[in-house]
Amino acid sequence: MSVVRSDVAGVAQARSVADLPLDDMVDKDLCMNIGLLGVGAIGKTLGQKLSAAGHDVKVANSRGPETIDADVLSTGARAVPVTEAVKDVDVVILSIPLARIPDVAPLIATVPSETVVIDTSNYVPFPDSELDAVEAIEAGQVESLWVSE
Ligand SMILES: NC(=O)c1ccc[n+]([C@@H]2O[C@H](COP(=O)([O-])OP(=O)(O)OC[C@H]3O[C@@H](n4cnc5c(N)ncnc54)[C@H](OP(=O)(O)O)[C@@H]3O)[C@@H](O)[C@H]2O)c1
Repeated sequence: MSVVRSDVAGVAQARSVADLPLDDMVDKDLCMNIGLLGVGAIGKTLGQKLSAAGHDVKVANSRGPETIDADVLSTGARAVPVTEAVKDVDVVILSIPLARIPDVAPLIATVPSETVVIDTSNYVPFPDSELDAVEAIEAGQVESLWVSE
């Protein structure tokens, strides 16, 4: 069992993910194995911060480990294929566009029930991109319900 101390004041003061005081929030003796899907604006920062804090972090994107920037791995995270990222971890973090969640849903369904799955996504409708439009959400379905289904 791993424990992350809460730092409510630090979190409240943070103006972006990059400001979050994650390095100070983690008990170094109780680090976790984390699998992170998505290394874009949000996932990259999470991967850097969590590995800098001492967690064992595996990161993956849709195009394969060789396409992940060295910068993402600069604090110790390891680039792996998507299937490897969710294996033998305490926590899976999804940091991919919400409309891409169905792509990884079958894989997520294979993780053990005790694995914590954290989803950073929110629905950002791009009027000029039909690819990312989610019909059910556009029709009024609550995002979290759509994700859970
Ligand atoms: N940006 C923000 O300020 C912000 C704030 C709060 C929440 N969010 C939410 O957090 C999520 C991530 O946002 P972002 O801005 O970091 O996105 P982003 O910069 O577009 O990065 C998306 C990442 O997801 C990966 N990805 C896409 N499909 C995948 C798949 N099937 N399997 C594995 N990886 C996949 C992409 O890899 P490839 O490049 O290889 O496709 C890329 O690394 C979104 O849902 C967003 O709405 C964003």
